Amino acid sequence: MITDIKVNKPEPIAFSEKQKTFTQGTDVALIIKGLVKGESILIKDFYSDGLSLLQEVHKYLNLKLPNKSFKEQHACRSEYFRLSNLILLEIVNQKIGVKKAPSIGWLEKLYPENNHFLLTFPQIQGMNSSWQWYKNGISIPVLRNKMHPYYGTYFPTRFDHLVLFDNWLKRYEGPKKTAIDVGVGCGVLSLQMVQHGFQKVHATDINPNAIVGLEEFMGTTKLSRKIELDFGHLFGKYEKQTELILFNPPWLPQPHDLSNIDDAIYYNKALFSDFFAAAKKRLLPEGKLVLIFSNLAQITNVTTEHPIETELAEGNRFQLERCYKKSVKSASNKTKRDQHWRSLEEVELWVLTNI
Ligand SMILES: C[S@@+](CC[C@H](N)C(=O)[O-])C[C@H]1O[C@@H](n2cnc3c(N)ncnc32)[C@H](O)[C@@H]1O
Repeated sequence: MITDIKVNKPEPIAFSEKQKTFTQGTDVALIIKGLVKGESILIKDFYSDGLSLLQEVHKYLNLKLPNKSFKEQHACRSEYFRLSNLILLEIVNQKIGVKKAPSIGWLEKLYPENNHFLLTFPQIQGMNSSWQWYKNGISIPVLRNKMHPYYGTYFPTRFDHLVLFDNWLKRYEGPKKTAIDVGVGCGVLSLQMVQHGFQKVHATDINPNAIVGLEEFMGTTKLSRKIELDFGHLFGKYEKQTELILFNPPWLPQPHDLSNIDDAIYYNKALFSDFFAAAKKRLLPEGKLVLIFSNLAQITNVTTEHPIETELAEGNRFQLERCYKKSVKSASNKTKRDQHWRSLEEVELWVLTNI
């Protein structure tokens, strides 16, 4: 049963009677000194005490560390990460043990049997925003119903690539018996395919939360018979040939320092060659291989390499039917510096066929 998969969640920290606590009136400068030395502090009274302490940590680092060059900013961020994660909250019977704390349903869902432990303040903040998305749902322009992204699952916040795919599906005239969605995430592309009449979509992901979340979302509805899930790398257990293979892969190469290894955002060297080799075996002779990508890595000068262009030039497996491009509407709340490259950003829909 898929629900037996272990989901990713913050590791509970064991409670200790010796844990230092922060209550109102505690000397903040002293606390920060302790944090710098690696001593954790437990917030005891109000949730807002934790927020104020985080602000103080911010102020302290702004004064203490240079913050100009890219390297300095990176160092500053990782020091903030270290110190802020030493600020702790107590979880008692699936609730946060301070006054005026948000109520976060993930605590019940993810820790049903653990009645007393600690989590860090940033972890709780992350869970809180994730809970809001999940509970309220997000409207996605190409879908009839709202999506409810599960904790720790990738979901789109901009929709241009989904529109591009939707327009392609509208014009697609091939058979619609089966499709494979590699890296299903919160499921949006699979849902689009079902909406456009695909009878069965096989969907995979290496992120257990994506699989567990979608299984919960579909429940025993008709949808659960149309989308079949598998927790696995690339094609997982699916060996059969299909008429449509779809992949919206990570769009950026993995950074060298490995500080951020989010599989939804960063790809490693082998991902694309492994994907194309496996796709070749599973694409029916007249089938379509569709990839969603972006020029993000190129316009931000992260790399000059485009993994799909490389495959077309060297792979000897697929040929280009067509590449559709759409410029991305610039997000309004970005800084001026970001906007410079954002105005160049385009999403791409690559349609490949067998050679
Ligand atoms: C950019 S997200 C796209 C998610 C979703 N398809 C969408 O379009 O919103 C990439 C997804 O691929 C998954 N992924 C990354 N590497 C994978 C692999 N080797 N096999 C299966 N899934 C993978 C990630 O966990 C993530 O959910």
